[in-house]
Amino acid sequence: MKLNTDYNIKNVGEEILLNGWVAKVRNLGGVIFVDLRDRSGIMQLVIRPDSSMYTIANTLKSEFVIRVKGVIVAREKANKNIPTGEIEVDVNDLIILNKSLELPFEISDNTTALEDTRLKYRYLDLRRNTLSNNLVVRHQITMAVRNFLDKEGFIEVETPVLCKSTPEGARDYLVPSRVNKGKFYALPQSPQIFKQLLMVGGIMRYFQITKCFRDEDLRADRQPEFTQIDMEMSFASVDDVMNLTEKLIAHVFKCVKGIEVKLPLLRMPYDDAIKYYGSDKPDLRFDMKIQDLNAIFANTNIEFLHKCLQDGGIINGIIVKGESDKYSRKEIDKLTEFVKTYKASGLAYIKKDGGLNGSLVKNLKSEEVDKINALLDEKDILFIVSDKYNICKTALGALRCKIAKDLNLINQSDYKLLWVTDFPLFEWSEEEGRYMAMHHPFTSPKDGDIDKLLTDKGNCYSKAYDIVINGYEAGGGSIRIHDEKVQEKVFKALELTDEQIKGKFGFFVDALKYGTPPHGGLAIGLDRLTMLLVGTDNIRDVIAFPKTASASDLMSDCPNVVDSTQLKELGISIDK
Ligand code: AMO
Repeated sequence: MKLNTDYNIKNVGEEILLNGWVAKVRNLGGVIFVDLRDRSGIMQLVIRPDSSMYTIANTLKSEFVIRVKGVIVAREKANKNIPTGEIEVDVNDLIILNKSLELPFEISDNTTALEDTRLKYRYLDLRRNTLSNNLVVRHQITMAVRNFLDKEGFIEVETPVLCKSTPEGARDYLVPSRVNKGKFYALPQSPQIFKQLLMVGGIMRYFQITKCFRDEDLRADRQPEFTQIDMEMSFASVDDVMNLTEKLIAHVFKCVKGIEVKLPLLRMPYDDAIKYYGSDKPDLRFDMKIQDLNAIFANTNIEFLHKCLQDGGIINGIIVKGESDKYSRKEIDKLTEFVKTYKASGLAYIKKDGGLNGSLVKNLKSEEVDKINALLDEKDILFIVSDKYNICKTALGALRCKIAKDLNLINQSDYKLLWVTDFPLFEWSEEEGRYMAMHHPFTSPKDGDIDKLLTDKGNCYSKAYDIVINGYEAGGGSIRIHDEKVQEKVFKALELTDEQIKGKFGFFVDALKYGTPPHGGLAIGLDRLTMLLVGTDNIRDVIAFPKTASASDLMSDCPNVVDSTQLKELGISIDK
């Protein structure tokens, strides 16, 4: 079947058949112009008063479904905004295949309809070319991935959806078992355990484009069910997985966007990402690195800075180049509120405008003035946060991104890809009062850190890596533990009891005892990769039937109550 945009000026004179929806009808001085929309875009149809199709064309309304035959002719005046803008179709046959009610919102690429209305009528929203194009790109990505991985010797293997709880750290979606009353399946947060078991099973190179389910707080780049391009390889080192993955990503960029990604990608250790960008997914499309100001304020008279250093905190800042005039008192107050949402106690600033001015300046020592003067150019503004290491870095990292967005410092057509490597193995959880796995408990520690697993958890690093694109975590993975003794030690470090280990992962630990090959892998978030390639920051734009921020589907009104007989069969009663 040919689509509207398959035709162009080279096809003038050809007799063609088209199917689609009426996007717009105009009657200009007796001549009827119809914008015929299909998945690919618009084709202009022309029906003149002397045409035998004129009467029927006069009855057309928006979203009627029609079939036309006609001849392609060159337009008198081309429309440069659409791919078929140089041609139109002189209609000689027209059939109305179906009519449509008046729509709840206009189908237009620049729609102003509320997102909730569009989600309720998602099947209509999908008729917008922006959305259908996003699904086309998503399809192109999966095709490119399948082709690439097939050539590299990977096979696609499906893993169960009804399974035992998996260890990715979010809440599970549970499914009650009718046959085993009182027992539940969990939907997989990822196929992590299964793909490792496939390596134990000798599959050697696995991939799967698969749904994952996580009951977690939703954000603009998160959905409760999302899709991973999931991979695992046996006998692979960190470099093997990273090299293969970046080749795969480069292949996708080339196939889908025609962009050559320069390899190898930059590799940045996690500690540096936090130090310079305050984030484990730094956006490198702009600079504005976090500056360490501890040395400048080492002997300061400014009480709160002095106290911060004494208490083991840090003083860091970011410099906004040449834009000090944009920051009035009111603007700075807004930014202060912004950093406070990241738990920072406040935000100080120094502007260079002739001399230095700002909240701290009158209490600066002359040597401090000299050092800050050397740091700043005319019209620069330095924002300063003093706090505990993590709070200071996170708050400045977020401020850096906000300022870049506010000041339009980001070239939206730019792509900056990098690896963040050498993640800590554990992270301290205030909530739990213990160290937790930063990734998941099967992540291999660095070889040199195995001895420290029980004695110095805060300084153990892992063979984990994330691929970051434009400030998004596009994918992540690690080399896994294949040695049962190391796995036991990690479980112990995570303070899991023997009973918990047996109950949760007993079958998996058993499998490690039967000749498990060294292995590692990674999963790329397909939804996020598609978002990046189509240039949207809303994950719902790249999913055919997405859920809202409260995990609901407005179209089918789901989740919803179920029949009392269904609950009874499952042995479930609802606590009111
Ligand atoms: P991780 O949890 O880092 O790793 O997930 C891998 C990638 O999946 C995407 N992602 C999401 N996308 C949309 N909505 C969500 N709620 C969501 N959560 C995650 C991200 C992320 O980088 N089993 C490991 C992989 C491995 O170790 O091989 C895993 O799932 O793009």
